[in-house]
Amino acid sequence: MEESSFVNSQSTTPMPLLVDQLDVTLGTSPILHGISLTVEQGESVALLGANGSGKSTLVKTCLGIVPSTRGRIEIYGKDLARKSSVPWRKIGYVPQRVGASSGVPATALEVVRSGLLSRSTPWKDRGRQAHQAAMEALAAVDLADRAHDHVQVFSGGQAQRVLIARALVRNPSLLFLDEPLAGIDRTSRETLATILSSLRERGLTLITVLHEMGELTPIVERAVVLEEGRIIHDGEPPATDHPHHHPGETGCEHLHPHDSLSRVAHHAPVLRNPA
Ligand SMILES: Nc1ncnc2c1ncn2[C@@H]1O[C@H](COP(=O)(O)OP(=O)(O)O)[C@@H](O)[C@H]1O
Ligand SMILES: [Mg+2]
Repeated sequence: MEESSFVNSQSTTPMPLLVDQLDVTLGTSPILHGISLTVEQGESVALLGANGSGKSTLVKTCLGIVPSTRGRIEIYGKDLARKSSVPWRKIGYVPQRVGASSGVPATALEVVRSGLLSRSTPWKDRGRQAHQAAMEALAAVDLADRAHDHVQVFSGGQAQRVLIARALVRNPSLLFLDEPLAGIDRTSRETLATILSSLRERGLTLITVLHEMGELTPIVERAVVLEEGRIIHDGEPPATDHPHHHPGETGCEHLHPHDSLSRVAHHAPVLRNPA
């Protein structure tokens, strides 16, 4: 097994994420250009930038959902080019939401248990342990008492918390969240901020795509800002939080931030354990 030389200075634990000189092209369009960044264990990083700047593409590339055309990605020291070597069980992913109703009635508990599914161990979502893990994940997002309710009746904020619970059920140490605040009401945003802050206290590494920091400002310790597929800032979060707009944008689109349904449906599947 090839181990990376990029290790945490304090310990021999490889860092959660290393991206080196990454280029991504989708179709014929170059989307990401020369992206390099490293994230250490326990860091909470916000990925900021205007709609279309490449935030979701960067996250999906780090998860192996979108292929890169150049560069290198390592997850906990393992080269993403060798997918089976990556410790996927340590990674959680909350995709950008594409609208509430899936049409298939499912309870919150069922949705969360589906996070335990994997190709190699399809039985993992059953049994008492799975039930207990799912209930613990629901408790972490303060929805244990709604476990048997159908998610179709949930508010946007509650549905988002169910998706976070689904990502937490395998007890990840690195969690990617794509626009977790988008399209949900203020109270839910505050609840989510509290939940993410307690995950951070538990030592999870958080990489959160945000259109604006808003309620999450207190948990963002570092901001990586993308503009047209390039990193234009990596460091202190911006002092004044404002959405990053392209010239000519209405300023209203962050109220309806969902990507085109077909595109997201294609590119943001539930993260399965490919091992
Ligand atoms: N499958 C695709 N094919 C071609 N272009 C795409 C595809 N998916 C996204 N894009 C384009 O890539 C750019 C970055 O998109 P995205 O990563 O979703 O940005 P963000 O998450 O920052 O809003 C946009 O211009 C978008 O139109
Ligand atoms: Mg996006």
